[in-house]
Amino acid sequence: MEEIANPQTYLARMSMPLQEKLKIARFIPKGTRSVLDVGCADGTVTLALAEMYPEVEFVGLDLDERFIAKAQARIGRLRNIRFETGYLRERLSAPERFEVVLFCSVLHEFYSYGEGISTVVKALADAHEILKPGGSLIIRDMILYDYAEQSELWIPEMKEKVLKKMGIPPLLAGFEKYFGVIKTIKGLNHFLLKYLYDDNWEREVKENYVPVSFEKYDQIFRLLGMSVLFQRSSTIPYLKEKWMDDFGFSVAEIESFRSTGIIVAKKSK
Ligand SMILES: C[S@@+](CC[C@H](N)C(=O)[O-])C[C@H]1O[C@@H](n2cnc3c(N)ncnc32)[C@H](O)[C@@H]1O
Repeated sequence: MEEIANPQTYLARMSMPLQEKLKIARFIPKGTRSVLDVGCADGTVTLALAEMYPEVEFVGLDLDERFIAKAQARIGRLRNIRFETGYLRERLSAPERFEVVLFCSVLHEFYSYGEGISTVVKALADAHEILKPGGSLIIRDMILYDYAEQSELWIPEMKEKVLKKMGIPPLLAGFEKYFGVIKTIKGLNHFLLKYLYDDNWEREVKENYVPVSFEKYDQIFRLLGMSVLFQRSSTIPYLKEKWMDDFGFSVAEIESFRSTGIIVAKKSK
């Protein structure tokens, strides 16, 4: 995996929307005793969840040992949490199984720094294997619908508004070098999610933030025999405001864009 140039900025950015991320807490079913948080980084989300659910045992897993060292140093008085370095795949050989497996803002990284869709399919298949019968898999990530890929409505006008903002043209040119000329709502939505991270631009620009659509996740879960219990696409209010402030989008235009997807799928009993 490519080195993160500035781990401190990366972690600060990850933990910023913590309250937003913690909305996944309500998808942890009542009576759950064990949760595996895959790609937990410095444990910000895992620790907050462990505090909210003292009766649940949490395991945070990340392949970056520097992040895991930070996470371990933050455990303090919590007794229901541990952190481990490693790949999800490596856990298959351990007998431990979980009632919930969580992927919070990680699967797009699996895609970009792994082998694309096959890495995501493998990760979900591994999670399926690591779940107890009847267990829940929770995904929170930037997820868009495939139909946004077909939609070209209003694109020239909206792209013009984006290009008017100072500092944007070189970022957009860099983005289009990797992802092609923006011609659809999905393309513009992808750029809107990305331009905010110009501090780590060299790394960020290449990362596909929205590689797996809701429709593709549906296909994967069908293949695994899992039932999708919940699916939601939304936009964090802060981002809506930021996009309107930065580019002068109207309320109607802003409705085209999304920032966050949540999917909950259940393994059969
Ligand atoms: C964007 S951060 C998300 C952190 C945290 N889940 C959150 O929402 O704040 C993604 C993390 O996934 C980790 N990661 C990427 N691929 C992984 C893999 N195959 N196994 C375990 N961790 C992985 C990275 O090291 C990084 O810390």
